[in-house]
Amino acid sequence: MDLVFYFSGTGNSYNVAKALSNNAINIASATNGGNYEADTIGFVFPVYCSLPPVIVTQFIKNSTFKSPYIWAVATYGGGAGGALSAAHKLLKTSGGLSYANGLILPDNSIIYGLEEKVKLKQLGEESGTVSRIKNDINNRVVKLPKNKPFADLVGKLSWFTIKNIYQAKTPRSNEKCTKCGICVRLCPTQNITMAEKGIIFSDKCEYCFGCIHFCPVNAIEFGKIKRHDNAAYHHPKVSADDLIKSKER
Ligand SMILES: Cc1cc2nc3c(=O)[nH]c(=O)nc-3n(C[C@H](O)[C@H](O)[C@H](O)COP(=O)(O)O)c2cc1C
Ligand code: SF4
Ligand code: SF4
Repeated sequence: MDLVFYFSGTGNSYNVAKALSNNAINIASATNGGNYEADTIGFVFPVYCSLPPVIVTQFIKNSTFKSPYIWAVATYGGGAGGALSAAHKLLKTSGGLSYANGLILPDNSIIYGLEEKVKLKQLGEESGTVSRIKNDINNRVVKLPKNKPFADLVGKLSWFTIKNIYQAKTPRSNEKCTKCGICVRLCPTQNITMAEKGIIFSDKCEYCFGCIHFCPVNAIEFGKIKRHDNAAYHHPKVSADDLIKSKER
């Protein structure tokens, strides 16, 4: 048996995980603290500030994994930074990663605009790269992540900037909100609830930016982060419904 766990805000990692396994499990609904044993165990996740998302870090830290072949694939807008070496370290007690790889997919971090032809090129190369990765995993290729000694520091500084300088600790909706409820159903951490006046954010945000990108009227703002005019994105093959259903187990 093979096990694949993933996390995804806007569908890139979801689409990669589904191409690598029909039974991939969303970490947002996996048992945190479980004991997992399989012939191969894999993780697919986006890179946030050069590191794995906190929800992925916590899931790996709190669970045990027993397998002769553990792998991780990161999706990112520019580069993996220290995300794969961080995953390798987190999995140390389980023997570490045997295989680490990653691929560039459109950046969902809203600050940068996405040029259409660049986006199409990145999406056009996805299936070929994922096929090669799948082949590597099937053949138990060993490929260790490069050690990134300053990754933690870079990650912490980037998060500090996002949360404190850009004040993204306090997401909010503006007057455009139609109370459609998509963000409430979509949020992987149940961080958004609907109230009479509109949506309310709690304090469990993973900064996946799924709510921002899937909001049909552009009503969600994260502190002082200025959204680039060409930043709207979700993977073209992944709908809000796909991500909502992916949390049901
Ligand atoms: C808060 C945040 C931080 C990010 N930081 C990085 C980064 O450090 N390096 C990078 O290459 N991409 C970064 N990205 C881009 C995502 O890693 C990339 O778009 C990823 O494929 C999104 O995957 P998803 O669609 O599965 O959520 C960041 C995105 C977000 C939302
Ligand atoms: S998705 Fe947008 S419009 Fe719908 S409830 Fe959320 S913020 Fe409001
Ligand atoms: S509130 Fe928005 S950005 Fe935060 S975890 Fe939920 S969907 Fe993602």
